[in-house]
Formats: sequence, C-alpha cells, structure tokens
Amino acid sequence: MRFPVYPKYFVRGGFILILFNDRLIEREEAAVDIEDRGYQFGDGVYEVIRIYNGRWFLFEEHMERLERSLNEIRLTLPYDIDQFNSYLHELLKKAPVSDGIIYLQVTRGKALRSHAFPAETNSVVTAYTRETPRPLSDLHAGIKAHLTNDIRWLRCDIKSLNLLGNVLAKQEALENQCGEAIFHRGDTVTEGSSSNVFIKKDDTWYTHPATNLILNGITRQFLFQLMASLKMPVKEEAFKISDLLNADEVIVTSTTQEVMPVISVDGEPIGTGSVGEWTKKLQQAFEDKIQQLAEVK
Ligand code: PDD
Repeated sequence: MRFPVYPKYFVRGGFILILFNDRLIEREEAAVDIEDRGYQFGDGVYEVIRIYNGRWFLFEEHMERLERSLNEIRLTLPYDIDQFNSYLHELLKKAPVSDGIIYLQVTRGKALRSHAFPAETNSVVTAYTRETPRPLSDLHAGIKAHLTNDIRWLRCDIKSLNLLGNVLAKQEALENQCGEAIFHRGDTVTEGSSSNVFIKKDDTWYTHPATNLILNGITRQFLFQLMASLKMPVKEEAFKISDLLNADEVIVTSTTQEVMPVISVDGEPIGTGSVGEWTKKLQQAFEDKIQQLAEVK
C-alpha cells in the first residue's frame, strides 16, 4: 500500500525531484543504501542554500564552503564542481520554489561497515529543493533563546552531517519554550544550535571569531558587508555569557533564520526586551538585498 506522505505544500514547492549523483529522479524512486557511510557514520557534509523569489542567494559562497568542508574530511565529488553547479541549476529549474531552500549533501557512499575510509570511495551526492517560507513573524517580534553547554566536537567549522549535539540542543531549547539554543564552552559563547550569534554593546557588534569552534556562517559573513555599509563597527572577538546577558541587542543569523532578533535569554530580557534599533536597520539592509535580487533580470 502506498501512503500519500507528502502534503501538497511540498509537492507544489519542490521536493518532487531529487538530484541523485548525476540523475534527477522522482522522490519515490530515491533510496539510500543501508550501508551508505552518511547513514551509518554521518560521514559526509552538507549545505543549505536560500532561494528568494525563485533565485539563488549567495550561491557561490555556499559552494566555496562546501569545497572547504569536503577538503577537510578528504572527500571528493564524483564530478567536478562546475558539473555539480549545473546539476543544481537544472534541479531548481525542474523543481522550482519561490521562497525556499536547496538542501544538498555529499557522503562517502556505500562500503562494508568499517570505520576507516574504504579502499575505493564512491561518493553519493543528493540534493532537493523545498519551499520554505521566511520566518516573518519571528523576524518582527524576535525569539527567546536558551543557553546550553556546547558538547560538540572540536571541528565545528566543518559543515558535517553529524548534528547530534545541535539536535539535542535545539530540542532542549524548544522544551524550554525557546526558538534557539545558544552554546557556551565554559564561559565563552560560541554559536547557536543552527546559527551564529552576534551581540551589540556600546556601538559595536561582537561575534565569535571563525575558529574550529563555530561554523563560519555565510549569513554571518554577508552581515559583515551590511554592517560596513551601515557604518556599524564589528569585532570578531569571543564574548562571555555575562556579555550576552548584558548586551543591548542580540541576533542569531543563518540561511533560514536570516537576521533573527533574540529578545530574551533564559527569561532574562535583552536590552529593553524588544527588537533593537541596530537590529532593525540590519534587517532593512538585508531586506533591500533580497528585493534587489528580485529585480535582477
Ligand atoms: N545551519 N552555525 C551552525 C551550527 C549552523 O548549523 C548554521 C546553519 C549556521 C549559520 O550558517 P549559514 O549562515 O551559512 O546558514 C551557523 C543550517 C541553515 C542548517 O543546518 O539548517
């Protein structure tokens, strides 16, 4: 018996076709081998790329980070990166979304289960599009955040499929009626469970430097440009839990969360407990970039 598992929402907005290595196949045909190392070891890397108005947002930046992640885990694509780019463009054309994402991942493929790399690697690439509405009401009102111990490994700079630490943290946040978990190692704030964290204090933004302890977010890097254009100073400097709690403004940033205001941390209001002025300016600058994208022919 076949169950109509995918609600109409997905069918209309992507998720009907899967890029499977060099083929575009129907969702129902796509199957991962039980011995795929992505499935058994989380041995692979991924990216989430935003689509606004049917158009790519920061595509090259995401693909550069993918290449870096691949290099760091000594994995290669089954074809060259230009070929991959054209497959992804084909996918978006055949399974279009308006405001959505492309999720893509590369695993070390199928091999008899053994921890070390297989003698011969057959990497497996999968990708799909999915309609993903912008979180407009949260962007307007802000979200609550929850602090949690950063129990993850020491290579958080790699966009690895291993997300167990992030998954547990996000779940803990939700169970505390919060929208995001903010990690700390000892006294130092690192990043969010699926975002980077910025605080604003005395006319400067601060965010953790791009070391092995955080993912160097594409949104994070894009915000540096917006901050420069708005003449808002920013320092890549680690800050403490007390700095977070005493900040004038706090934001978390990511491909899907954009410039998300944090209005409280574990019940402690940040600043006035509402969305701050610098955050609003940044959000407007971000919005303008999205609008410009819509106007590009
Ligand atoms: N997550 N830090 C972590 C741990 C993340 O998982 C993410 C993004 C970011 C922000 O990166 P970017 O700005 O490039 O999206 C930082 C994605 C969106 C996810 O796993 O769904």
